[in-house]
Amino acid sequence: MRDMVMVGFLQAQNCSNFAGSWRHPDSRSDFASPDYYAHIGRVLEAGKFQLAFFDDRLGMPEFHGGRFAEAVAHGIRCVKMDPIACLMPMAMGTTRLGLGATYSTTYYHPFHVARLFQTLDLMTRGRAAWNVVTSMNDVEAQNMGLEEAVEHDARYDRADEFLEVVHGHWDTWADDALIVDKTTGRFADPEKVRRIDHRGRHFRSRGPFTVPRSQQGHPVVIQAGQSGRGRRFAARWGELIFTSNPNLEPAKKAYTDLKADAASVGRDPDQMKIATLCHPVVAATKAEAEDKFALIERLPLEVDSLMLLSENTNFDFGSKPLDEPFTDAELARFSGTQSGRDRVVAALGDRKPTPRDFITITRRGKLPPPWVGGPKEVADTFEQWFSAPACDGFVVGAACVPGSYEDFITFVVPELQRRGLFHKDYKGETLRENLGLPRPVVGRRR
Ligand SMILES: Cc1cc2nc3c(=O)[nH]c(=O)nc-3n(C[C@H](O)[C@H](O)[C@H](O)COP(=O)(O)O)c2cc1C
Repeated sequence: MRDMVMVGFLQAQNCSNFAGSWRHPDSRSDFASPDYYAHIGRVLEAGKFQLAFFDDRLGMPEFHGGRFAEAVAHGIRCVKMDPIACLMPMAMGTTRLGLGATYSTTYYHPFHVARLFQTLDLMTRGRAAWNVVTSMNDVEAQNMGLEEAVEHDARYDRADEFLEVVHGHWDTWADDALIVDKTTGRFADPEKVRRIDHRGRHFRSRGPFTVPRSQQGHPVVIQAGQSGRGRRFAARWGELIFTSNPNLEPAKKAYTDLKADAASVGRDPDQMKIATLCHPVVAATKAEAEDKFALIERLPLEVDSLMLLSENTNFDFGSKPLDEPFTDAELARFSGTQSGRDRVVAALGDRKPTPRDFITITRRGKLPPPWVGGPKEVADTFEQWFSAPACDGFVVGAACVPGSYEDFITFVVPELQRRGLFHKDYKGETLRENLGLPRPVVGRRR
């Protein structure tokens, strides 16, 4: 029997991944306080979530040409703090919840990221995870010394080498290298620590690495590539995969394909867990949940959508009348997520999409199509997706924080537990134990 994986989709920012969430009456406004994060951690741990994970982007959304005023004025994901620092109060307030953060392979050095996450893993006693992203938008590039985002597939080529270096370092201390014996004066065994001497196309890194192995070996690697190249990368490296699919049938296909991709590179598909993004809006009854959703739908502004579409595509959605179709040349200039653009184009057939089509079809800036209902209806949907199988678990997004998680834990978690789909308690102490992932063996290279 598979155990359902539950992940809280968090942000170290002024809103959830739903930009209008900070306007919700039940959202806490003290997002810049440690207590805010500690509280969310306690809520998720009470609900037996395996993981709380922070997404990240290295810049504020803005319209191209440098107009950021709307993002600040309307609070459109304009605050973004470092996710690792925000994980620490959450870690201090919990003992079993896994703690994940996003870091980019395009703008950091692998030694730095390997050290940061391995340290986090030790400080959380083996509960850390790293969401590997390649960073898709120009604003991030301009904050980090480039003019524009690196070309899509080239980002993944660099990321492959990045992961070779990170894993190389994570694997250079044997599990029993540390001795720390004051009587003999031996601190560690030099035979059990080595260099990696990496000299590649993008990186050079020599070692020895300066952080020993952790309780779970090293952090769990998360990945969410959706494109062909992104999925090849995920199949090679990802231990927990995030997917996003609006409907069950394509999600089932994506699940089968991802597992087959992992098998094709010699991995055991059962050792790769797939969690799909969802946004449950739940209450004691369906009618109450629908009222909650009606309130949520009143929160987004049009500018939220336009700005976040600009961020995702690197195209200035503020420069075009809402109902004017994009030309082929304009669509070809979209350079962020390819899968998002392709989904809209495919949905319209021969007709060229307008900015309004992008808003309507992608719902960017709005809460993604939610699962609205009472405990039974929403648990039915979770069961349907899990049993199909279209996923091994769920990345639960929130319309307001911490209210959406409190609702979910009150109304849906007990129902899933009653059905025997979701664990009643943590099986182990480390994140790997709680996800059903094996402890990595030193020296087994991909
Ligand atoms: C649940 C989920 C969380 C994600 N979190 C981030 C994030 O924090 N930062 C980021 O730059 N991209 C994030 N992404 C985007 C993916 O890393 C990836 O770029 C995107 O799915 C497009 O796939 P592609 O890169 O293969 O084109 C996330 C995607 C999903 C489904």
